[in-house]
Amino acid sequence: MVSYKELGLVNTREMFAKAIKGGYAIPAFNFNNMEQLQAIIKAAAETKSPVILQVSKGARNYANQTLLRYMAQGAVEYAKELGWEKPQIVLHLDHGDSFELCKSCVDFGFSSVMIDASSLPYEENIALTKKVVEYAHKYDVTVEAELGVLAGVEDEVSSAVSHYTKPEEVVDFATRTGCDSLAISIGTSHGAYKFTPEQCTRDPKTGKLVPPPLAFDVLDAIMEQLPGFPIVLHGSSSVPQEYVDMINSMGGKLPDAVGIPEEQLRKASESAVCKINIDSDSRLAFTAAVRKVLTEKPGEFDPRKYCGVARDFMEDLYKHKIIDVLGSNGKA
Ligand code: G3H
Ligand code: 13P
Ligand code: ZN
Repeated sequence: MVSYKELGLVNTREMFAKAIKGGYAIPAFNFNNMEQLQAIIKAAAETKSPVILQVSKGARNYANQTLLRYMAQGAVEYAKELGWEKPQIVLHLDHGDSFELCKSCVDFGFSSVMIDASSLPYEENIALTKKVVEYAHKYDVTVEAELGVLAGVEDEVSSAVSHYTKPEEVVDFATRTGCDSLAISIGTSHGAYKFTPEQCTRDPKTGKLVPPPLAFDVLDAIMEQLPGFPIVLHGSSSVPQEYVDMINSMGGKLPDAVGIPEEQLRKASESAVCKINIDSDSRLAFTAAVRKVLTEKPGEFDPRKYCGVARDFMEDLYKHKIIDVLGSNGKA
């Protein structure tokens, strides 16, 4: 058993309370490798932004959970080396799908876990979430739960039958589970194809897809039911078209990739939405950089040359999100 406190990490409780009061959101960036982690920490340290390092089950399988844990511990020391005296860094399990996985993360030094039982029937979601909360809270680890199902590209986001979170369920769910934050569904979804072309309109000038707006009315109704309760948005990449174009012009194939417009994420950040999850944008930045270097310098075979540029692209992206979208700069 390792306590996250010994590693210099913090849980989300105080961070979220401050974010809601201050009208900004904390960035939750996924990481799978050293370059991503370096870029996240540099961006957070230089902007003095609290930050959530997210590890998915896939990341654990890819990079090894022991290595990831020590990388997060190293990140705290690296942040201090960069001049950030009291780093506000959370190590969070993203989309935990079982009690055992969440328990193993709590025991292993994570300061926050998500139990994603949103695909289970309501009562089963409550029972599993409650079990994780009871265990995690013994160690002062905070728990994110999910209610409602994020839309997939196959879903009709605009149809009357949606999987949006039902505002009438949130009080019962939060009270009975004791969760610390709630991920909701208001029209975001994972990946680089958040909407089908049929769900969008097309900008006549650029030919680019313009997505439908998020369901802010559902968010408002949830906030009315649970005033001041921390809300989380998954699937919040904006899929920057500069990266998509770069990738497509250098041998890639990402037709009609589309994300959530940043103005909408900015608006959400000012509300009780206090954690915004971003993964795909970093993947796009990384891929655009690697394609660029290898296209311009076909003879290059030192991975530091293209991974280094990828790291710079990601650092710029993270700083942009922190400063221009979430407003979390200067808050740590
Ligand atoms: O929500 C999903 C995250 O983007 C993590 O993705 O499971 O491919 O690591 P992954
Ligand atoms: P994106 O795919 O939009 O980056 O969402 C990431 C996410 O929600 C991680 O949990
Ligand atoms: Zn997610």
